[in-house]
Amino acid sequence: MTKKQENIHPVFDRILNREDKQTFLKQKSKVLWFTGLSGSGKSTIAIALEKKLQKKGFLTQILDGDNVRTGINNNLGFSNQDRTENIRRIAEISKLFLDCGVITLNSFVSPTIKIRELAKNIIGENDFLEIYVNAPLEVCEQRDVKGLYKKARKGEIKDFTGIDAPFEESKNPFIEIRTDKSTVDQLVEEIYDKIKNLISY
Ligand code: ADX
Repeated sequence: MTKKQENIHPVFDRILNREDKQTFLKQKSKVLWFTGLSGSGKSTIAIALEKKLQKKGFLTQILDGDNVRTGINNNLGFSNQDRTENIRRIAEISKLFLDCGVITLNSFVSPTIKIRELAKNIIGENDFLEIYVNAPLEVCEQRDVKGLYKKARKGEIKDFTGIDAPFEESKNPFIEIRTDKSTVDQLVEEIYDKIKNLISY
C-alpha cells in the first residue's frame, strides 16, 4: 500500500453493487469509447446513438472532451501528459457510471494506442467497447466545424491532433465506422445492432 493510501478505508463491500443497479435499470452497463480525429463525427454519432438508446429504454450518459474540459478537466491542456490525465480521469468517472448501471458514450480524441490502453485497463477489457470513428484527415479538415484546423495550420494552435500532434489509428476496435461514407442514421443502426445484446438485461 502506498503512503498516500494508508489512511483510506474504502466501503465498496457495504454499498449497493453494480448487479443491484443493473437489475434496477434492467440493462447492462458498458462504456462506448469513441476515438477519432477532431471533426471525425464522434460527438454527432454519440448524440444520435444516445437518442436511439433512450427510445429503446436505456439510461445513458454522454461524456465529451469539449464538455469535460470546461468542467472537471479545465486545468488540462493538450500535451501528451495532460491528455493522459484527461483520459485517466474520464476512465475513472466512467467506472463510477458502470457501477451505477449506466451506459456511457465517451467522445474523446484519445489519440494514442497507449492512452486508449490506459482507459481500457482502468475500465476493464469486458466493459470497454472501442468505436473508431474514422474519417480521413482531409475530410475532417475540410469540415472544420470549429475552425480549429485553420488555426492549427496558421500556427495559432500548437500540438493539434493530426497536424502537429500524432493520431495513431485504432488497430483492433470493436467497431470501425467511416463517417464520410455512410449517413449518421445508418451508422447509428450499425452500432446499435452490434451492442444491443451486450447492453440488454
Ligand atoms: S484528448 O486528446 O485529450 O482525448 P479531447 O477529446 O479531450 O482530447 O479534446 C479534443 C477537443 O478539444 C477537440 O475536438 C477540439 O475541439 C479541442 N482542441 C483544442 N485544442 C486541441 C488540440 N491541440 N488537439 C486536439 N483537440 C484540440
